[in-house]
Amino acid sequence: MSLLRKTLQSSLSSLKQVRHVLAAPKKLSLDEFDGPSIKTDIPGPRSKELLRELNSLSTTHEVQFFCNYEESKGNYLVDVDGNVFLDIFMQISSLPLGYNHPALLKVLNDPANLSTLVNRPALGNLPPADFPLRVQNSLIAVAPKGLTNVKTMACGSCSNENAYKAIFMWYMTKQRGGAPPSPEELETCMYNKSPGAPDLTLMSFTGAFHGRTLGCLATTHSKAIHKLDIPSLDWPIAPFPQLKYPLEEHEAENRAEERRCLDQVHALFREYTSAGRPVCGVVVEPVQAEGGDNHASPEFFRELRAITKEYGAAFLVDEVQTGVGVTGSWWAHDLWQLDDPPDIVTFAKKMLGGGYFHTEEFRANSGYRIFNTWLGEPSKLAMCEAVVKTVQEENLLENVRQAGSVLLDGLKHLQTKYPTQLENARGLGTFIAIDCKGGDAHRNKILTDLKRKGIQSGGCGERTIRCRPALIFQPHHAEMVVNAMDEVLAEQA
Ligand SMILES: Cc1ncc(COP(=O)(O)O)c(C=O)c1O
Repeated sequence: MSLLRKTLQSSLSSLKQVRHVLAAPKKLSLDEFDGPSIKTDIPGPRSKELLRELNSLSTTHEVQFFCNYEESKGNYLVDVDGNVFLDIFMQISSLPLGYNHPALLKVLNDPANLSTLVNRPALGNLPPADFPLRVQNSLIAVAPKGLTNVKTMACGSCSNENAYKAIFMWYMTKQRGGAPPSPEELETCMYNKSPGAPDLTLMSFTGAFHGRTLGCLATTHSKAIHKLDIPSLDWPIAPFPQLKYPLEEHEAENRAEERRCLDQVHALFREYTSAGRPVCGVVVEPVQAEGGDNHASPEFFRELRAITKEYGAAFLVDEVQTGVGVTGSWWAHDLWQLDDPPDIVTFAKKMLGGGYFHTEEFRANSGYRIFNTWLGEPSKLAMCEAVVKTVQEENLLENVRQAGSVLLDGLKHLQTKYPTQLENARGLGTFIAIDCKGGDAHRNKILTDLKRKGIQSGGCGERTIRCRPALIFQPHHAEMVVNAMDEVLAEQA
C-alpha cells in the first residue's frame, strides 16, 4: 500500500473515530459522474473552434475552454468536447452547490418564481411584494452576529464599492453632528473638490484583493496587472502578516510578525490623521484569497478590530470569497470570536448575489446615496434561500470540515513526499492552498497537468494552488484530487 494511501486511510480512520462526537453530515446522494474522464487535448477541437468565433467578437485572453453546463453535474464540469473534470475551483469559487443542484433547479422550475425571472425590477424603487420575506429567508437568515441590516448588490466589487461609500457617509454624518451639508459642500462635490468631496481615506493591506472597480482597485494590491495605467487614490496600505506554516509550529515568530503589522496600522492611522487625511475605515479579508491564501490569526483580527474602535474608524470584513461555509463556518470571521462585531461585512460569489450587511449606524441618511438600477436580482435571492436551506438540511458545514480535513492531510503528505516541489499546505475547511517551490511557472505547469488528468483547479498569488470546491465536495473527491496531484508531481520529479 502506498504511503499516500496509508496517510489518507489514517486520516479517514481518525475521522471515523471522531464521528460519534460530530454530527455526521447527511450522506449526500449526488447524481454525478464516478470520476473525471479526459478524451481530448484541453482545450479540445470544439473549444478551439468556438474560441476563434468568439475572438472575432470579443477579447478571449482568459478563456480556458467552453463548457456544456447542461451535462455538468454536482462536482463535475463537462466541456464541449465531452471531457469531464472534477471541479475544485467552481467558477472562481462562486458555486455553492456545484452544477445543476436539484434544489436550485426546483426554484427555477417553480411557476411561482416565473414572474421574478421574467420581470427584473429596479429593486430600490419598485420591489415585488415578496421582497422583504425573500431578504429575510436568504440574507438575514445567515446575517453575521450583530449585523441586522443588509443592502443588496450585484457583484463583489459593487458590494465593496458601495460599502466604502457607506463608511465615508457615516464618517461625515458624524463630523457634521447631525447638521445638514453646507451649500459650499453641495457645490464643491460637483467638481470633485473639498469640502464636498473631502480628503478621507480607507486603509487596506498589501496583498489584498477587493475588486477591480476604481474605488476597490485603490484597496487591491495583489497583482500589478490589475492596477497598471489606472489613476488611483493615495490611501494608507498596511503590511499584511507574512506568516510561516504550519502556523502551530511557528507561533512565536508569527506573533512577532503580526505585532509588526499591527504597529504599522497604528503608525498609518497617526500619519494620515496628522496630515489632515482621516482614515475612516479599514478593509480586510479573513484569508487573503487572490493574494495567495495568506492567513492571519484570530488574535490579529481581534486586535485590528480594537484599533479601528480606538481611532473611530469602521471595520469592514470582505467575505466575498471566504463566506458561505467554505471555512467550515458560515462566515470566516465567526472563527475570530470578536467581542465587537465588524461594522460591515461584504459578500457575493457563493451567496449568488452580492451586498453588504451592516449595523444600524451605517444606514444611508437619505435616498439615492447608495443606489443603482437593479440593486441585485430577486431570483438570486430565491436561489440563495435554497442554498441556505440545503446547507442546513444536509449539514454541509460538517461535510466541508470532513472533506477539508482529508484534502489538507493529503496535501501535507504530498509536501513531505515531494519536498523540492511543494510547501506550506494550509487551510480552513475546504479553503485550502499549497505553494509551489518553483514559482509561477512551476505552479502553472502543475495546474495544466492537473487539468489533463481531469482536475479543474486554480492559482492565486505568485506560486500558490488554491482549492475552492463546492460545499458538496466529499472526502472521496478529496482523495481523487490528492491522487491526481501525486501522479503529476511524480511525473515532474
Ligand atoms: C475578497 C474579494 N473581494 C472582492 C472580489 C470582487 O468580486 P467580483 O469579482 O464579484 O467583483 C473578489 C473576487 O475575487 C474577492 O475575492
